Amino acid sequence: MFIIPWSEGMTGNGTSRLHIRTAAERDVDRLAEYFAALSFSSRHNRFMGTVSDFSRIAFDCLVRNRKPDRFTLIAEMQHDAREAVIGEACYAVDNHTGLGEFAISVCDGWQNRGLGSALLSALQSRAVSLGYFGLFGETFKTNDQMKSLARKAGFAVARSDDWRVIRFDKRLLDPPRDVAGARRPAPSLWGPRA
Ligand SMILES: CC(C)(COP(=O)(O)OP(=O)(O)OC[C@H]1O[C@@H](n2cnc3c(N)ncnc32)[C@H](O)[C@@H]1OP(=O)(O)O)[C@@H](O)C(=O)NCCC(=O)NCCS
Repeated sequence: MFIIPWSEGMTGNGTSRLHIRTAAERDVDRLAEYFAALSFSSRHNRFMGTVSDFSRIAFDCLVRNRKPDRFTLIAEMQHDAREAVIGEACYAVDNHTGLGEFAISVCDGWQNRGLGSALLSALQSRAVSLGYFGLFGETFKTNDQMKSLARKAGFAVARSDDWRVIRFDKRLLDPPRDVAGARRPAPSLWGPRA
């Protein structure tokens, strides 16, 4: 579990705590509520399209597609014995390329306060600890916040097959010699693209 060191500074009082942890099956309902509470624009950017069945998406993330090479991190705020999900990051690896695709979101009220960077750092640490050597994501060209976050985290920006989208890549470890097709796209994991 990642304890965010600046949690008290961010929340402004000593009774709140923010941490990042791996989501489990028991988190399906809370993750679905979190997705449902995102603004239209944040949700559209997160899923790169219009989605509505949040329970199914959360179930797919945490139960149906649960495999050793996939994980979801959630950022959680604990306050007065209550817990609220305020951000998430999903990761899935393509076993042919050894590259992982990720998607990330932070609830609207917490954006631009460094939580996206903290989630992305935690995701990279987890990917490295699992031995995965690369990470990539895609976002709409209009998504300045995500582009800024990716650049700040050391991702290189590249073209995508989709003209509306840019791709960002980062090498985490040196790949084994026999891995071919390092730019082969992994299956799109995070929902429809309208
Ligand atoms: C992208 C997202 C995860 C970033 O999370 P966050 O908590 O806001 O990220 P951070 O606060 O760590 O960093 C955001 C950076 O964007 C910058 N930023 C914010 N608005 C910006 C804008 N309009 N143009 C350029 N940069 C902008 C911030 O200044 C900050 O950079 P800084 O730390 O150098 O000042 C969040 O905005 C989000 O959830 N968006 C909706 C979902 C989404 O777009 N997901 C990405 C697709 S997978």
